[in-house]
Amino acid sequence: MPSIRPESGRFATYLARAADALDAHLEEHPGDAMRRFSDWDPELKGELPEFGSGTDAAIERLLQVVLPNGPRMSHPGFWGWITTGPTTVGAVAAAVASVAGPQRYLMTAFNRVEELSLEWLAGLCGLDEHMKGVYSSGGSTANLIALGAARQWAYTRKGIDPAAAGVTGNPTAIYTSTEVHHTIHRSAGVLGLGRRSVRLVPTDDRHRMRADLLAEMLERDASEGVMPVAVVAAAGTTNTGAIDPLREVGELAHRFGAWFHIDGAYGLPGILDPGITHLYDGLELADSVIVDPHKWLGAPVGVAATFVRDRSLLFHAFMQEPADYLEGAFVEEPESSLDSMGIPYQDFGVELSSPSRGVIVWAILTELGREGMAARIIEDNGFARRVADHARREPSLELLTEPVLSICCFRHVAPPGSDPDEFNQRLLRRLLRETDFMPSSTLVDGRFAIRPCFINVRTTAAHVDGFMDAVLRIGADLTSELHP
Ligand SMILES: Cc1ncc(COP(=O)(O)O)c(C=O)c1O
Repeated sequence: MPSIRPESGRFATYLARAADALDAHLEEHPGDAMRRFSDWDPELKGELPEFGSGTDAAIERLLQVVLPNGPRMSHPGFWGWITTGPTTVGAVAAAVASVAGPQRYLMTAFNRVEELSLEWLAGLCGLDEHMKGVYSSGGSTANLIALGAARQWAYTRKGIDPAAAGVTGNPTAIYTSTEVHHTIHRSAGVLGLGRRSVRLVPTDDRHRMRADLLAEMLERDASEGVMPVAVVAAAGTTNTGAIDPLREVGELAHRFGAWFHIDGAYGLPGILDPGITHLYDGLELADSVIVDPHKWLGAPVGVAATFVRDRSLLFHAFMQEPADYLEGAFVEEPESSLDSMGIPYQDFGVELSSPSRGVIVWAILTELGREGMAARIIEDNGFARRVADHARREPSLELLTEPVLSICCFRHVAPPGSDPDEFNQRLLRRLLRETDFMPSSTLVDGRFAIRPCFINVRTTAAHVDGFMDAVLRIGADLTSELHP
Protein backbone atom coordinates (compact mmCIF):
# COMPACT_ATOMS: atom_id res chain seq x y z
CA MET A 1 0.00 0.00 0.00
CA PRO A 2 1.39 3.46 -0.83
CA SER A 3 2.24 5.78 2.05
CA ILE A 4 -0.74 7.77 3.34
CA ARG A 5 1.51 10.79 3.82
CA PRO A 6 2.86 12.83 0.90
CA GLU A 7 6.56 12.25 0.41
CA SER A 8 8.46 15.30 1.55
CA GLY A 9 10.84 17.04 -0.76
CA ARG A 10 9.29 15.62 -3.95
CA PHE A 11 7.38 18.71 -5.09
CA ALA A 12 10.20 19.78 -7.34
CA THR A 13 10.28 16.42 -9.10
CA TYR A 14 6.56 16.17 -9.67
CA LEU A 15 5.97 19.80 -10.52
CA ALA A 16 8.87 19.70 -12.98
CA ARG A 17 7.31 16.67 -14.63
CA ALA A 18 3.93 18.41 -14.81
CA ALA A 19 5.57 21.59 -16.10
CA ASP A 20 7.27 19.68 -18.93
CA ALA A 21 3.96 18.07 -19.86
CA LEU A 22 2.22 21.45 -19.83
CA ASP A 23 4.91 23.05 -22.00
CA ALA A 24 4.54 20.21 -24.50
CA HIS A 25 0.75 20.53 -24.34
CA LEU A 26 0.94 24.23 -25.20
CA GLU A 27 3.19 23.49 -28.15
CA GLU A 28 0.85 20.88 -29.61
CA HIS A 29 -1.74 21.69 -32.21
CA PRO A 30 -4.24 18.87 -32.13
CA GLY A 31 -6.16 18.60 -35.38
CA ASP A 32 -9.47 18.00 -33.71
CA ALA A 33 -10.60 20.40 -31.03
CA MET A 34 -13.14 17.97 -29.74
CA ARG A 35 -11.37 14.63 -29.60
CA ARG A 36 -13.74 11.73 -29.78
CA PHE A 37 -15.03 10.72 -26.39
CA SER A 38 -14.59 7.08 -27.37
CA ASP A 39 -10.83 7.63 -27.93
CA TRP A 40 -10.07 8.31 -24.31
CA ASP A 41 -13.04 7.39 -22.17
CA PRO A 42 -12.19 3.67 -21.96
CA GLU A 43 -8.87 4.57 -20.38
CA LEU A 44 -10.55 6.61 -17.67
CA LYS A 45 -13.48 4.40 -16.84
CA GLY A 46 -13.07 2.22 -13.85
CA GLU A 47 -14.02 1.42 -10.29
CA LEU A 48 -12.74 3.22 -7.25
CA PRO A 49 -9.43 1.42 -6.58
CA GLU A 50 -9.36 -0.57 -3.39
CA PHE A 51 -5.60 0.02 -3.09
CA GLY A 52 -4.06 3.15 -4.53
CA SER A 53 -1.26 2.97 -7.05
CA GLY A 54 0.89 5.65 -5.39
CA THR A 55 1.94 9.21 -6.19
CA ASP A 56 4.11 8.34 -9.17
CA ALA A 57 1.45 6.33 -10.95
CA ALA A 58 -1.35 8.80 -10.11
CA ILE A 59 0.61 11.72 -11.51
CA GLU A 60 1.61 9.70 -14.55
CA ARG A 61 -2.03 8.90 -15.33
CA LEU A 62 -3.01 12.53 -14.82
CA LEU A 63 -0.39 13.62 -17.34
CA GLN A 64 -0.91 10.78 -19.81
CA VAL A 65 -4.68 10.35 -19.87
CA VAL A 66 -6.40 13.46 -18.52
CA LEU A 67 -4.14 16.32 -19.60
CA PRO A 68 -4.03 15.58 -23.35
CA ASN A 69 -7.78 15.13 -23.53
CA GLY A 70 -8.83 18.42 -21.97
CA PRO A 71 -10.25 21.38 -23.84
CA ARG A 72 -8.00 23.46 -26.07
CA MET A 73 -8.59 26.72 -24.24
CA SER A 74 -4.94 27.61 -23.75
CA HIS A 75 -4.05 27.18 -27.44
CA PRO A 76 -3.47 30.39 -29.38
CA GLY A 77 -6.38 29.72 -31.73
CA PHE A 78 -8.97 29.31 -28.99
CA TRP A 79 -11.37 32.28 -28.97
CA GLY A 80 -14.62 30.72 -27.83
CA TRP A 81 -17.11 32.28 -25.39
CA ILE A 82 -15.16 34.45 -22.93
CA THR A 83 -12.71 32.00 -21.54
CA THR A 84 -9.05 31.19 -22.00
CA GLY A 85 -6.07 29.45 -20.44
CA PRO A 86 -4.07 31.30 -17.80
CA THR A 87 -0.79 33.11 -18.19
CA THR A 88 2.30 31.39 -16.81
CA VAL A 89 2.64 33.71 -13.83
CA GLY A 90 -1.06 33.32 -12.98
CA ALA A 91 -0.85 29.53 -13.08
CA VAL A 92 2.34 29.46 -10.98
CA ALA A 93 0.85 31.84 -8.40
CA ALA A 94 -2.26 29.63 -8.16
CA ALA A 95 -0.13 26.53 -7.64
CA VAL A 96 1.95 28.21 -4.95
CA ALA A 97 -1.11 29.60 -3.19
CA SER A 98 -2.85 26.22 -3.23
CA VAL A 99 -0.12 24.83 -0.99
CA ALA A 100 1.32 27.77 0.93
CA GLY A 101 -1.80 29.96 1.27
CA PRO A 102 -4.70 27.58 0.85
CA GLN A 103 -7.18 29.94 2.54
CA ARG A 104 -7.46 33.71 2.30
CA TYR A 105 -8.07 34.19 6.02
CA LEU A 106 -5.67 34.76 8.94
CA MET A 107 -3.38 37.76 9.05
CA THR A 108 -0.81 36.47 6.62
CA ALA A 109 0.84 37.87 3.53
CA PHE A 110 -1.84 36.13 1.46
CA ASN A 111 -4.61 38.01 3.29
CA ARG A 112 -2.67 41.26 2.90
CA VAL A 113 -2.08 40.68 -0.81
CA GLU A 114 -5.79 39.99 -1.23
CA GLU A 115 -6.52 43.60 -0.26
CA LEU A 116 -3.54 45.10 -2.03
CA SER A 117 -4.41 43.38 -5.29
CA LEU A 118 -8.04 44.51 -5.01
CA GLU A 119 -6.78 48.08 -4.68
CA TRP A 120 -4.51 47.61 -7.70
CA LEU A 121 -7.30 46.02 -9.71
CA ALA A 122 -9.68 48.86 -8.88
CA GLY A 123 -7.05 51.40 -9.92
CA LEU A 124 -6.25 49.49 -13.11
CA CYS A 125 -9.92 49.51 -14.09
CA GLY A 126 -10.52 53.20 -13.41
CA LEU A 127 -12.52 52.77 -10.18
CA ASP A 128 -12.10 55.39 -7.52
CA GLU A 129 -10.30 54.64 -4.26
CA HIS A 130 -13.56 54.36 -2.30
CA MET A 131 -14.58 51.21 -4.17
CA LYS A 132 -13.66 48.26 -1.98
CA GLY A 133 -13.66 44.72 -3.21
CA VAL A 134 -14.00 41.05 -2.49
CA TYR A 135 -12.96 38.11 -4.66
CA SER A 136 -15.18 35.20 -5.54
CA SER A 137 -15.16 32.28 -7.95
CA GLY A 138 -16.47 33.95 -11.12
CA GLY A 139 -18.77 36.51 -12.68
CA SER A 140 -21.79 34.53 -11.52
CA THR A 141 -20.92 34.85 -7.83
CA ALA A 142 -19.54 38.36 -8.30
CA ASN A 143 -22.89 39.51 -9.72
CA LEU A 144 -24.72 37.68 -6.94
CA ILE A 145 -22.64 39.47 -4.31
CA ALA A 146 -23.17 42.87 -5.95
CA LEU A 147 -26.91 42.36 -6.17
CA GLY A 148 -26.90 41.12 -2.56
CA ALA A 149 -25.54 44.54 -1.63
CA ALA A 150 -28.19 46.20 -3.80
CA ARG A 151 -30.95 44.22 -2.11
CA GLN A 152 -29.58 45.07 1.35
CA TRP A 153 -29.46 48.74 0.48
CA ALA A 154 -32.91 48.89 -1.13
CA TYR A 155 -34.72 47.12 1.72
CA THR A 156 -32.80 48.81 4.51
CA ARG A 157 -34.11 52.12 3.16
CA LYS A 158 -37.62 50.73 3.77
CA GLY A 159 -36.71 49.75 7.34
CA ILE A 160 -36.33 46.03 6.54
CA ASP A 161 -33.17 43.96 6.97
CA PRO A 162 -33.68 41.45 4.14
CA ALA A 163 -30.74 39.27 5.20
CA ALA A 164 -32.38 38.72 8.59
CA ALA A 165 -36.10 38.99 7.84
CA GLY A 166 -36.30 37.86 4.21
CA VAL A 167 -37.82 39.92 1.45
CA THR A 168 -41.35 41.13 1.98
CA GLY A 169 -43.57 43.94 0.79
CA ASN A 170 -44.00 45.54 -2.62
CA PRO A 171 -43.00 43.86 -5.87
CA THR A 172 -39.45 44.67 -6.87
CA ALA A 173 -37.61 45.04 -10.16
CA ILE A 174 -34.09 44.79 -11.54
CA TYR A 175 -33.65 46.54 -14.89
CA THR A 176 -31.12 45.45 -17.47
CA SER A 177 -30.85 45.04 -21.24
CA THR A 178 -31.97 42.15 -23.41
CA GLU A 179 -28.25 41.40 -23.93
CA VAL A 180 -27.74 40.72 -20.22
CA HIS A 181 -25.76 37.73 -19.02
CA HIS A 182 -28.23 35.34 -17.41
CA THR A 183 -26.34 35.27 -14.15
CA ILE A 184 -28.39 38.36 -13.32
CA HIS A 185 -31.61 36.32 -13.51
CA ARG A 186 -30.06 33.59 -11.39
CA SER A 187 -28.89 36.14 -8.81
CA ALA A 188 -32.41 37.56 -8.61
CA GLY A 189 -33.72 34.03 -8.04
CA VAL A 190 -31.17 33.18 -5.35
CA LEU A 191 -31.70 36.49 -3.55
CA GLY A 192 -35.44 35.86 -3.29
CA LEU A 193 -36.29 38.75 -5.60
CA GLY A 194 -37.39 36.29 -8.25
CA ARG A 195 -36.19 35.75 -11.78
CA ARG A 196 -39.36 37.39 -12.99
CA SER A 197 -38.38 40.64 -11.29
CA VAL A 198 -35.75 41.13 -14.03
CA ARG A 199 -37.12 43.59 -16.59
CA LEU A 200 -35.42 43.53 -19.98
CA VAL A 201 -34.86 46.84 -21.73
CA PRO A 202 -34.52 46.64 -25.55
CA THR A 203 -31.24 47.64 -27.19
CA ASP A 204 -30.31 49.96 -30.04
CA ASP A 205 -28.73 49.01 -33.38
CA ARG A 206 -25.37 48.64 -31.59
CA HIS A 207 -26.82 46.31 -28.95
CA ARG A 208 -26.63 48.91 -26.16
CA MET A 209 -29.38 49.45 -23.64
CA ARG A 210 -31.91 52.09 -24.79
CA ALA A 211 -31.88 54.65 -21.98
CA ASP A 212 -35.10 56.25 -23.24
CA LEU A 213 -36.95 52.93 -22.90
CA LEU A 214 -35.38 52.31 -19.49
CA ALA A 215 -36.75 55.69 -18.37
CA GLU A 216 -40.23 54.74 -19.58
CA MET A 217 -40.12 51.43 -17.72
CA LEU A 218 -38.87 53.01 -14.50
CA GLU A 219 -41.58 55.64 -14.68
CA ARG A 220 -44.37 53.18 -15.35
CA ASP A 221 -43.26 50.85 -12.57
CA ALA A 222 -42.88 53.72 -10.10
CA SER A 223 -46.47 54.74 -10.73
CA GLU A 224 -47.53 51.15 -9.98
CA GLY A 225 -45.60 50.95 -6.70
CA VAL A 226 -42.85 48.61 -7.89
CA MET A 227 -39.64 49.06 -5.88
CA PRO A 228 -36.60 49.46 -8.18
CA VAL A 229 -33.80 47.45 -6.58
CA ALA A 230 -31.10 47.88 -9.22
CA VAL A 231 -30.31 48.89 -12.74
CA VAL A 232 -27.64 46.67 -14.27
CA ALA A 233 -25.57 47.96 -17.17
CA ALA A 234 -22.97 46.01 -19.12
CA ALA A 235 -19.45 47.24 -19.76
CA GLY A 236 -18.91 44.61 -22.43
CA THR A 237 -21.78 42.27 -23.24
CA THR A 238 -21.08 38.59 -23.74
CA ASN A 239 -22.54 38.38 -27.23
CA THR A 240 -20.97 41.34 -28.95
CA GLY A 241 -18.91 43.31 -26.42
CA ALA A 242 -21.31 46.27 -26.43
CA ILE A 243 -20.92 48.87 -23.70
CA ASP A 244 -24.17 50.38 -22.44
CA PRO A 245 -24.39 54.19 -22.13
CA LEU A 246 -23.16 54.14 -18.54
CA ARG A 247 -23.69 57.79 -17.65
CA GLU A 248 -27.25 57.97 -18.96
CA VAL A 249 -28.21 54.66 -17.39
CA GLY A 250 -26.49 55.48 -14.07
CA GLU A 251 -28.17 58.87 -13.82
CA LEU A 252 -31.57 57.30 -14.47
CA ALA A 253 -30.92 54.63 -11.83
CA HIS A 254 -30.14 57.25 -9.24
CA ARG A 255 -33.00 59.54 -10.28
CA PHE A 256 -35.43 56.68 -9.66
CA GLY A 257 -33.79 55.61 -6.40
CA ALA A 258 -32.19 52.40 -7.72
CA TRP A 259 -28.76 50.92 -7.12
CA PHE A 260 -26.51 51.16 -10.19
CA HIS A 261 -24.54 48.00 -10.94
CA ILE A 262 -22.09 47.55 -13.81
CA ASP A 263 -21.30 44.06 -15.06
CA GLY A 264 -17.76 44.45 -16.37
CA ALA A 265 -16.92 40.76 -15.95
CA TYR A 266 -15.40 40.70 -19.40
CA GLY A 267 -15.11 44.27 -20.60
CA LEU A 268 -14.05 46.46 -17.69
CA PRO A 269 -10.31 46.20 -18.51
CA GLY A 270 -11.19 47.64 -21.94
CA ILE A 271 -10.93 51.04 -20.25
CA LEU A 272 -7.15 50.67 -20.64
CA ASP A 273 -7.48 51.11 -24.42
CA PRO A 274 -7.26 54.90 -24.94
CA GLY A 275 -9.24 54.58 -28.17
CA ILE A 276 -12.37 53.62 -26.22
CA THR A 277 -11.82 54.96 -22.70
CA HIS A 278 -14.56 57.53 -23.35
CA LEU A 279 -17.13 54.71 -23.57
CA TYR A 280 -16.66 54.17 -19.83
CA ASP A 281 -17.83 57.68 -19.02
CA GLY A 282 -20.17 57.39 -16.03
CA LEU A 283 -18.29 54.53 -14.38
CA GLU A 284 -17.95 56.66 -11.26
CA LEU A 285 -21.73 56.59 -10.81
CA ALA A 286 -21.67 52.85 -10.10
CA ASP A 287 -22.64 51.58 -6.66
CA SER A 288 -21.14 48.22 -7.57
CA VAL A 289 -18.96 46.90 -10.37
CA ILE A 290 -17.65 43.45 -11.17
CA VAL A 291 -14.65 42.32 -13.20
CA ASP A 292 -13.31 38.81 -13.83
CA PRO A 293 -9.52 38.57 -13.83
CA HIS A 294 -10.03 35.02 -15.16
CA LYS A 295 -11.31 36.49 -18.38
CA TRP A 296 -9.25 39.29 -19.92
CA LEU A 297 -6.42 39.43 -17.36
CA GLY A 298 -5.40 35.81 -17.93
CA ALA A 299 -5.88 34.48 -14.38
CA PRO A 300 -6.67 30.78 -14.01
CA VAL A 301 -10.41 30.11 -13.83
CA GLY A 302 -11.92 30.85 -10.44
CA VAL A 303 -11.09 34.56 -9.96
CA ALA A 304 -13.66 37.37 -10.05
CA ALA A 305 -14.01 40.57 -8.05
CA THR A 306 -16.97 42.61 -6.84
CA PHE A 307 -16.40 46.24 -5.87
CA VAL A 308 -18.85 48.29 -3.84
CA ARG A 309 -18.79 51.79 -2.47
CA ASP A 310 -19.77 50.63 1.00
CA ARG A 311 -18.40 47.23 2.05
CA SER A 312 -20.46 47.30 5.28
CA LEU A 313 -23.50 46.57 3.09
CA LEU A 314 -21.81 43.35 2.04
CA PHE A 315 -21.17 42.56 5.67
CA HIS A 316 -24.84 43.03 6.57
CA ALA A 317 -25.96 41.03 3.56
CA PHE A 318 -23.58 38.09 3.95
CA MET A 319 -22.11 37.95 7.48
CA GLN A 320 -22.11 34.62 9.23
CA GLU A 321 -23.58 34.26 12.68
CA PRO A 322 -21.06 33.93 15.53
CA ALA A 323 -19.66 30.39 15.74
CA ASP A 324 -18.22 28.59 18.76
CA TYR A 325 -15.37 27.18 16.71
CA LEU A 326 -14.18 30.71 15.91
CA GLU A 327 -15.18 32.94 18.83
CA GLY A 328 -12.48 33.17 21.45
CA ALA A 329 -9.76 32.05 19.08
CA PHE A 330 -8.84 35.60 18.16
CA VAL A 331 -7.75 38.67 20.11
CA GLU A 332 -8.41 42.40 19.78
CA GLU A 333 -4.77 43.33 19.32
CA PRO A 334 -3.26 40.63 17.14
CA GLU A 335 0.44 39.92 17.42
CA SER A 336 0.75 36.95 15.13
CA SER A 337 -1.00 35.74 12.00
CA LEU A 338 -3.07 33.28 14.04
CA ASP A 339 -4.47 35.97 16.33
CA SER A 340 -6.94 37.35 13.78
CA MET A 341 -8.88 36.30 10.70
CA GLY A 342 -7.47 39.41 8.98
CA ILE A 343 -9.82 41.33 6.71
CA PRO A 344 -13.06 39.35 7.06
CA TYR A 345 -13.66 38.50 3.39
CA GLN A 346 -15.66 35.49 4.53
CA ASP A 347 -18.35 37.97 5.67
CA PHE A 348 -18.37 39.97 2.42
CA GLY A 349 -19.55 37.16 0.18
CA VAL A 350 -20.85 33.61 0.15
CA GLU A 351 -17.67 31.60 0.78
CA LEU A 352 -15.84 30.80 4.00
CA SER A 353 -13.25 28.37 2.69
CA SER A 354 -11.79 30.03 -0.33
CA PRO A 355 -8.48 29.98 -2.17
CA SER A 356 -6.16 32.98 -1.99
CA ARG A 357 -7.10 34.57 -5.28
CA GLY A 358 -5.54 37.94 -4.65
CA VAL A 359 -2.05 36.58 -4.96
CA ILE A 360 -2.82 35.54 -8.53
CA VAL A 361 -3.96 39.02 -9.52
CA TRP A 362 -1.05 40.53 -7.60
CA ALA A 363 1.42 38.30 -9.50
CA ILE A 364 -0.13 39.12 -12.88
CA LEU A 365 -0.08 42.86 -12.23
CA THR A 366 3.43 42.67 -10.76
CA GLU A 367 4.57 40.95 -13.94
CA LEU A 368 3.04 43.40 -16.42
CA GLY A 369 2.09 46.60 -14.64
CA ARG A 370 -0.55 48.94 -16.01
CA GLU A 371 1.30 49.60 -19.27
CA GLY A 372 1.84 45.93 -20.04
CA MET A 373 -1.78 45.10 -19.38
CA ALA A 374 -2.91 48.04 -21.51
CA ALA A 375 -0.71 46.81 -24.37
CA ARG A 376 -2.36 43.39 -24.16
CA ILE A 377 -5.88 44.84 -24.16
CA ILE A 378 -5.09 47.19 -27.06
CA GLU A 379 -3.64 44.30 -29.06
CA ASP A 380 -6.72 42.13 -28.45
CA ASN A 381 -9.09 44.92 -29.51
CA GLY A 382 -6.90 45.31 -32.59
CA PHE A 383 -7.36 41.61 -33.43
CA ALA A 384 -11.14 42.06 -33.47
CA ARG A 385 -10.78 45.06 -35.77
CA ARG A 386 -8.40 43.04 -37.96
CA VAL A 387 -11.15 40.43 -38.43
CA ALA A 388 -13.65 43.20 -39.18
CA ASP A 389 -11.30 44.69 -41.79
CA HIS A 390 -10.92 41.28 -43.46
CA ALA A 391 -14.70 40.85 -43.45
CA ARG A 392 -15.23 44.30 -44.97
CA ARG A 393 -12.67 43.65 -47.72
CA GLU A 394 -13.85 40.17 -48.67
CA PRO A 395 -17.03 40.05 -50.75
CA SER A 396 -17.69 36.51 -49.49
CA LEU A 397 -17.79 37.66 -45.86
CA GLU A 398 -20.39 39.72 -44.05
CA LEU A 399 -19.57 41.81 -40.99
CA LEU A 400 -22.38 41.56 -38.43
CA THR A 401 -21.02 43.77 -35.65
CA GLU A 402 -18.51 46.56 -35.67
CA PRO A 403 -16.15 45.58 -32.81
CA VAL A 404 -16.12 47.76 -29.72
CA LEU A 405 -13.92 45.50 -27.59
CA SER A 406 -12.21 42.26 -28.63
CA ILE A 407 -15.24 40.45 -30.10
CA CYS A 408 -16.08 40.49 -33.80
CA CYS A 409 -19.23 38.83 -35.21
CA PHE A 410 -19.24 37.99 -38.90
CA ARG A 411 -20.24 35.23 -41.28
CA HIS A 412 -19.62 33.77 -44.69
CA VAL A 413 -22.04 34.60 -47.46
CA ALA A 414 -24.07 31.51 -48.36
CA PRO A 415 -24.59 30.50 -51.97
CA PRO A 416 -27.99 31.43 -53.42
CA GLY A 417 -30.76 29.11 -52.33
CA SER A 418 -29.01 27.87 -49.18
CA ASP A 419 -29.77 28.91 -45.64
CA PRO A 420 -27.02 31.25 -44.34
CA ASP A 421 -27.45 30.06 -40.75
CA GLU A 422 -27.08 26.43 -41.71
CA PHE A 423 -24.19 27.18 -44.06
CA ASN A 424 -22.26 29.00 -41.34
CA GLN A 425 -23.01 26.33 -38.78
CA ARG A 426 -21.45 23.77 -41.13
CA LEU A 427 -18.52 26.07 -41.75
CA LEU A 428 -17.91 26.53 -38.03
CA ARG A 429 -18.16 22.81 -37.39
CA ARG A 430 -15.52 22.09 -40.02
CA LEU A 431 -13.32 24.86 -38.70
CA LEU A 432 -13.37 23.28 -35.25
CA ARG A 433 -12.70 19.80 -36.54
CA GLU A 434 -10.09 20.55 -39.17
CA THR A 435 -8.09 23.53 -37.95
CA ASP A 436 -6.39 24.95 -34.89
CA PHE A 437 -8.93 27.77 -34.66
CA MET A 438 -11.82 27.68 -32.27
CA PRO A 439 -14.15 30.66 -32.16
CA SER A 440 -17.69 30.17 -30.85
CA SER A 441 -20.96 31.36 -32.32
CA THR A 442 -23.88 33.56 -31.40
CA LEU A 443 -26.99 35.08 -32.90
CA VAL A 444 -26.79 38.73 -33.95
CA ASP A 445 -30.29 40.08 -34.48
CA GLY A 446 -31.41 36.52 -35.10
CA ARG A 447 -28.61 35.73 -37.58
CA PHE A 448 -26.07 32.97 -36.90
CA ALA A 449 -22.63 34.54 -36.46
CA ILE A 450 -19.07 33.26 -36.10
CA ARG A 451 -17.79 34.98 -33.00
CA PRO A 452 -14.10 35.07 -32.09
CA CYS A 453 -13.43 36.74 -28.72
CA PHE A 454 -9.78 37.68 -28.33
CA ILE A 455 -8.62 37.43 -24.74
CA ASN A 456 -6.07 34.68 -25.30
CA VAL A 457 -2.57 35.83 -24.30
CA ARG A 458 -0.94 33.39 -26.72
CA THR A 459 -2.64 34.71 -29.87
CA THR A 460 -0.67 36.69 -32.48
CA ALA A 461 -1.71 38.55 -35.64
CA ALA A 462 -0.48 35.57 -37.68
CA HIS A 463 -3.05 33.35 -35.94
CA VAL A 464 -5.81 35.82 -36.76
CA ASP A 465 -4.79 35.91 -40.42
CA GLY A 466 -4.55 32.11 -40.53
CA PHE A 467 -8.06 31.94 -39.12
CA MET A 468 -9.47 34.23 -41.78
CA ASP A 469 -7.74 32.21 -44.50
CA ALA A 470 -9.24 29.02 -43.05
CA VAL A 471 -12.74 30.54 -42.99
CA LEU A 472 -12.41 31.56 -46.64
CA ARG A 473 -11.00 28.19 -47.68
CA ILE A 474 -13.72 26.16 -45.94
CA GLY A 475 -16.38 28.63 -47.10
CA ALA A 476 -15.24 28.21 -50.74
CA ASP A 477 -15.19 24.44 -50.30
CA LEU A 478 -18.72 24.32 -48.95
CA THR A 479 -19.92 26.67 -51.67
CA SER A 480 -18.53 24.43 -54.39
CA GLU A 481 -20.05 21.38 -52.70
CA LEU A 482 -23.46 23.05 -52.86
CA HIS A 483 -22.91 24.53 -56.36
CA PRO A 484 -20.45 22.22 -58.06
C1 LIG B 1 -20.84 39.85 -18.91
C2 LIG B 1 -20.73 38.57 -18.13
N1 LIG B 1 -21.16 38.52 -16.87
C3 LIG B 1 -21.07 37.41 -16.12
C4 LIG B 1 -20.51 36.26 -16.63
C5 LIG B 1 -20.41 35.02 -15.79
O1 LIG B 1 -19.07 34.81 -15.47
P1 LIG B 1 -18.51 33.40 -14.94
O2 LIG B 1 -18.57 32.47 -16.11
O3 LIG B 1 -17.14 33.73 -14.51
O4 LIG B 1 -19.38 32.95 -13.83
C6 LIG B 1 -20.03 36.26 -17.95
C7 LIG B 1 -19.43 35.05 -18.54
O5 LIG B 1 -19.03 35.02 -19.67
C8 LIG B 1 -20.13 37.45 -18.72
O6 LIG B 1 -19.70 37.51 -19.98
